[in-house]
Amino acid sequence: MTDTSNAPIPLRATRPLGPLSGVARVPGDKSISHRALMVGALAVGETRIEGLLEGEDVRRTAAAMRALGAEVVRHGEGAWSVFGRGVGGLAEPDDVLDLGNSGTSARLIAGILAGHDLFAVMTGDASLRRRPMRRVIEPLTQCGAAFHTRSGGRLPMAVRGAADPRPIDYTLPVASAQVKSAILLAGLCARGETRVVEPQPTRDHTETMLRGFGAEVSVAVLPGGGREIRLLGQPELEARPVLVPADPSSAAFPAVAALLVPGSAVTLEGVGMNPLRAGLYETLREMGADIEIANEREEAGERVADLTVSSSPLRGVEVPPERAPTMIDEYPILAVAAACAAGETRMRGLAELRVKESDRLAAIAEGLAACGAEVAIEGDDLIVRGRGHPPPGGARIATRMDHRIAMSFLVLGQVTREPVEIDDGSFIDTSFPGFADLMRSLGAAIAPA
Ligand code: S3P
Repeated sequence: MTDTSNAPIPLRATRPLGPLSGVARVPGDKSISHRALMVGALAVGETRIEGLLEGEDVRRTAAAMRALGAEVVRHGEGAWSVFGRGVGGLAEPDDVLDLGNSGTSARLIAGILAGHDLFAVMTGDASLRRRPMRRVIEPLTQCGAAFHTRSGGRLPMAVRGAADPRPIDYTLPVASAQVKSAILLAGLCARGETRVVEPQPTRDHTETMLRGFGAEVSVAVLPGGGREIRLLGQPELEARPVLVPADPSSAAFPAVAALLVPGSAVTLEGVGMNPLRAGLYETLREMGADIEIANEREEAGERVADLTVSSSPLRGVEVPPERAPTMIDEYPILAVAAACAAGETRMRGLAELRVKESDRLAAIAEGLAACGAEVAIEGDDLIVRGRGHPPPGGARIATRMDHRIAMSFLVLGQVTREPVEIDDGSFIDTSFPGFADLMRSLGAAIAPA
């Protein structure tokens, strides 16, 4: 396993010699990859996974599933098998579970642990140890699990799972697929029906996958657009093949690069187009982006398509707060696009960005300002005033252990007059191994600094 506490890898992005072009497939979807390993570990039989993301975050989940007694085997690139232990069948780990940089691993695995009669301790890197866990502790305590944490509800965290987990009825106070998923994964082990209400819909990969593996899951759309998810506990999950689509959150980086570098046209194949993940593409189109969506199809219950992105003049737009859950990881790269667009882009309702791998509101604002863009934070809104051409650049960006901040500014450096450097590209491997190589294969200019 790569150790993300290794020496930093500074990188420099410069203007490429020509337009970006070519066809590429970005790595597998991070959210679906985590869930495939976890649900596979809770199923009976062999879950074969194709296209699994092999980034550091997902490797942490794989290691944790092994530590809990599942057999996890890698056959070749992206091809993995999980031999599960059945719902409620995981074993007590004999050491601390280290989830590295991965919030999804930490929160979803907390749900799995809560439903099992076992003791476990979870930790992570300095970024993950700063992130709030109370959002899962609160509902999982209602299920009957007990937690001890560092002050502020931070990792390391000790979990005493419930011997006889209770099904709960819970309304999410924050729009978080991680919290919803933690409750559903705990609910698998409970006798009876778990009910989760989300006032704002969030990514539904857990529900889709659990249903695919044979669980009884129903989803109802509520007046006002929220959702109610009901799960019947103690199903027998039967292993199913999982085909992981290319990650729309990773595709966002070459897509925006192609929009910004004049004359470019890039095709990204097999990208997940789940409507609860596609908010960035909708927003970019509103900004005037030329994005062609072709060959739409369904693979293992998830919608996928090929995207062809051609460079386009962009204009500023207002992004409504209710769209945030469908593009929550894409604001750093959207802000980069906005900094090159004509006019103001107001991205509303971004409180959640403060508790991601870094405080992304601050990281974006600071980085864009250092590159000479006009940017402001007003309450929970991010405002970027574009001048219809890229800001000058010429800055070194503090990436704060955050892969998406790193990749976003490497994309910005493709169009600024002066190079953009980042202090550390090592965290890119958490979600997008091979990022610099893939970008270079399309013509981008990224080199060691
Ligand atoms: C994820 C949910 C989102 C997202 C994260 C992955 C998931 O987090 O930011 O990268 O796989 O469920 P929140 O649930 O905290 O919004």
